[in-house]
Amino acid sequence: MSHITLDYLNVVDFVSRDELKAATQEYKKARELLISKSGRGNDFLGWMDLPEKTSQELIGEIEKTAGKIRKNSDLFIVIGIGGSYLGARACIEMLLPNNYNQFIKPQVYFSGNSISPGALNDLLKLTEGKDVSLNVISKSGTTTEPALAFRVMYEWMVKKYGSSGAAERIIVTTDASKGALLKFAKTEGMKTFVIPDDVGGRFSVLTPVGLLPVAVAGVDIRKLLTGAKAGTEEYRDMDNLTENPSALYAVLRNLLYRKGKNIEILANFEPKLHYFAEWWKQLFGESEGKEGKGIFPASCDFTTDLHSMGQWIQDGRREIFETFINVELPDVDITITKDDKDLDGLNYLAGKTFSYVNRQAMLGTIEAHRQGGVPSMLITIPQANSFYVGKLFYFFEWAVAISGYMLGVNPFDQPGVEHYKKNMFRLLGKPV
Ligand code: PA5
Repeated sequence: MSHITLDYLNVVDFVSRDELKAATQEYKKARELLISKSGRGNDFLGWMDLPEKTSQELIGEIEKTAGKIRKNSDLFIVIGIGGSYLGARACIEMLLPNNYNQFIKPQVYFSGNSISPGALNDLLKLTEGKDVSLNVISKSGTTTEPALAFRVMYEWMVKKYGSSGAAERIIVTTDASKGALLKFAKTEGMKTFVIPDDVGGRFSVLTPVGLLPVAVAGVDIRKLLTGAKAGTEEYRDMDNLTENPSALYAVLRNLLYRKGKNIEILANFEPKLHYFAEWWKQLFGESEGKEGKGIFPASCDFTTDLHSMGQWIQDGRREIFETFINVELPDVDITITKDDKDLDGLNYLAGKTFSYVNRQAMLGTIEAHRQGGVPSMLITIPQANSFYVGKLFYFFEWAVAISGYMLGVNPFDQPGVEHYKKNMFRLLGKPV
């Protein structure tokens, strides 16, 4: 079995061997805090053992529910925001074809991740004449965006199916014992899945939060969990820093941060990774951006963004570093043909594949940016399949935990997220 690898050659001009050696002790300390579950936020470490602790019974129940939805629905709508949708969307977009809704039944749409009336209205139009199932996901059960979308969608469902028919088609994923959503589900007799108490939203992709939607989309959740389990063995259980790419990535990004590299750009050369970067941004942004500290996580889709953000990256303020994610084996390839007239001047590429050209674009970009003073790391996954996506989720979850402890923050809380909500509720006159 191949591994996810980390190439950090383009960091060595910026971080010395001695600095890396010195940071090894910090890594060991951070790791020890996680393994002994004695660090800050230690009541939110349930994600660490999810791959091996998820029971066969739960997996079977998720598969059974997904099977029913696949049979009786044209549309499956996932209502949730932040950690309650990004993991599932990242996984689906990475594993299914581009424009996947043209090819699957049920089609999978995401809602409740904004308060845009246009977005919700446009989705409602798609439901006309269609059989619909809903999965509403909220750990707190009180988040405004999904709650509002659910209110509208539920009304539509009741109109179409009646109360008990609607309840049959709605699955609620929420806390085991509290929240308005749980009360709603119980009152209306809807099926529920539990988000464990000790797993925070952005770490919940391997709970029913992520597993049910991706199973409905046709992803093999057993392989996803097997991949994540391989991640526990190679990252969590591996204390030797040099043999642990996840931890090494965490350490190196901290060393770069200490040298004034305040912004990390996660860059890909494959549009299907766009939502993986969105998931990653939440994971790192919400875990580390606190107490006046933290790397700002940004993302770029190359080569597209080389034609917009490329100038800034090459020549702008030198406070960035890049982490490239490279998928070694493309899903499909296209060979460039020879054209007798060669009016476009592309015959020099005849016989070459798109993936070859894409790779040269990546190597050229990495080199240009290094010459422009941008250090970078390259994370390579052998293939975009369920196994490696599961492993990649765990790679970054482990990395952010180590990285957050090295930074000196609690990576498992998000006190800052409450601030805008308080203001919004005051402006809306929410009863206290
Ligand atoms: O990671 C987090 O805790 C947050 O991003 C939440 O996932 C997000 O705010 C949604 O919260 P909830 O699932 O309670 O609706």
